[in-house]
Amino acid sequence: MSNTVFITGATSGFGRAAARRFAAAGWSLALTGRRFERLQALQAELSALAPVHIAVLDVRDADAVKKVVADLPAAFRTLHTLVNNAGLALAPQPAQAVALEDWHTMIDTNITGLVNVTHALLPALLATGRGASIINLGSVAGQWPYPGGHVYGASKAFVKQFSYNLRCDLLGTGVRVTDIAPGMAETEFTLVRTRGDQAASDRLYQGAEPLSAEDIAEQIFYVATLPEHININRLEIMPTRQAWQAFAVNRD
Ligand SMILES: NC(=O)c1ccc[n+]([C@@H]2O[C@H](COP(=O)([O-])OP(=O)(O)OC[C@H]3O[C@@H](n4cnc5c(N)ncnc54)[C@H](OP(=O)(O)O)[C@@H]3O)[C@@H](O)[C@H]2O)c1
Repeated sequence: MSNTVFITGATSGFGRAAARRFAAAGWSLALTGRRFERLQALQAELSALAPVHIAVLDVRDADAVKKVVADLPAAFRTLHTLVNNAGLALAPQPAQAVALEDWHTMIDTNITGLVNVTHALLPALLATGRGASIINLGSVAGQWPYPGGHVYGASKAFVKQFSYNLRCDLLGTGVRVTDIAPGMAETEFTLVRTRGDQAASDRLYQGAEPLSAEDIAEQIFYVATLPEHININRLEIMPTRQAWQAFAVNRD
């Protein structure tokens, strides 16, 4: 039987590109996201390459997560890799200008959603043991502060520390954990963050040679297929054209 990967947020960006990458290698795919039509389209596209199971899932809903996991067809239950990818940034404005609801949405998705899925799939990953992987999508924003990063960056700092702490508890089980932390990557991420402002999204990426969804999918696949005795703890990846700036100082 082929290896199975379970991907959250497979309807766009990194998640969809990762689904294509794993399918090309013949892995069985359990693909989830909120947009059914996109899941259906991906299933139609990839079914010739690999077995594909799709399930509509909002990761914020713990009961729904449990149900999707309980309803996994038998052929998709022997799980090799979980890609905790579903996530979003909202509100690029300064913290003091952001609606509380937007902070809650980021926390509910990037933190609560990620732990919901991890908790529900840990038994399957532990049953696989040696070679199994949890790959969490963090961000450079979880390590480096920037204006407008507020709760998004903090939620990705959670992803980093949760990944490290999971490694401690899973020591001896053979299950690996990795925090993949991309920098600027052109997906629908900025469209979501700006609530559909395509021009703002285009401006951000224009001339910057951002990472592509395929670049990150390749890293996800690489981490999942490393020899079983290797665990990459954190993989931080930026476009060559992205770096940091000096400390900001406010003077009177
Ligand atoms: N692009 C970047 O620059 C960048 C950099 C670092 C880290 N990241 C992280 O990488 C991950 C993927 O982002 P992306 O760049 O590929 O963005 P994207 O193109 O907007 O894709 C985000 C995916 O997350 C899913 N999602 C959002 N909320 C969800 C929810 N409540 N339940 C289930 N699925 C949900 C979306 O699917 P549905 O809308 O269909 O549910 C979509 O498939 C995120 O965790 C993001 O924070 C992105």
